[in-house]
Amino acid sequence: MTSAFAPGKIILFGEHAVVYGRPALAVPVTQVHADVEVLDSSKDGIWIDAPDIHLHAELNSLLPDHPLAAVISNFFTPLSSLHPAKRGMEGQRGVEIKISSTIPVASGLGSGAAVSVALIRALSSHLDHPMTNEQLNALAYEIEKIHHGTPSGIDNTVITYAKPVYFVKGHLIETFKVGKPFTIVIGDTGISAPTKEAVGDVHVLWEADKARWEKVFDKIGEIVKKAKEKIENGESEELGELMNQNHSLLQEMTVSSPELDRLVNAALKAGALGAKMSGGGRGGNMIALVKPETAEAVSRLLKEAGAKNTIITSIHP
Ligand code: PMV
Repeated sequence: MTSAFAPGKIILFGEHAVVYGRPALAVPVTQVHADVEVLDSSKDGIWIDAPDIHLHAELNSLLPDHPLAAVISNFFTPLSSLHPAKRGMEGQRGVEIKISSTIPVASGLGSGAAVSVALIRALSSHLDHPMTNEQLNALAYEIEKIHHGTPSGIDNTVITYAKPVYFVKGHLIETFKVGKPFTIVIGDTGISAPTKEAVGDVHVLWEADKARWEKVFDKIGEIVKKAKEKIENGESEELGELMNQNHSLLQEMTVSSPELDRLVNAALKAGALGAKMSGGGRGGNMIALVKPETAEAVSRLLKEAGAKNTIITSIHP
């Protein structure tokens, strides 16, 4: 039996504008994770057991664009030509793949990318086919296209490398230093919202008035650069105002929602230094920058304001 896991992630700054080439900052969130076990099986075929999504099926019974089927097929296809001895998927010895995840689906914490990364890692280790992080990241990115349509690649990158990432689409991975630890509270609206739709709606806005939205994306890009500098210099308390500014721009892009705004306002009222939605928006999660001693109080007030769940996490050097 072989097992592997991958963490969740949260975008600190720059979502949506990152699809248009601006930078974004994201960090792994280890309190939530996807876990995969691969076992040899006496049954023929490749069996997938994912109780969280009520799935127990043989690979060939799934549609080819089912994300789990696509991860597995994309993993095996190059094997058959590169390593005939490993036989690719045809004639593959029977295996059972058990998938579980504590990452809420479609909520901005990278559930799809984490499952892909954990699954590829577990298969590569079980079938003795070592892969570099770069290869793994590229495979996971292909699956993100099924989940998201036109993904920037930020989710799979942060999750594969499990490091803070300053991400620019199409560029080599760049991580950033954390000058001084800081604490954020993540609040979940409990509303699943497909990133694909929010990204599609922003695209419609952009098509209709490119000059206006390019300016908005530029402003977000500037916020991201300032935020990176503050984090690296250990001036994280000053990130609060930048979060508030980023949230206003996301509201202007129509990707926030009444529920997200309610949680953002509740966090600010509870003493957070700043707050914003995170990820695709329209639901999913928001984040609040807090002094460590107020984290519990902010978390409690977020729940009173309707958060289905909260996570207190600290970003370390
Ligand atoms: O997967 P989510 O919901 O965290 O959103 C990803 C961030 C977006 O910028 C909205 C989309 C993308 O591909 O970068």
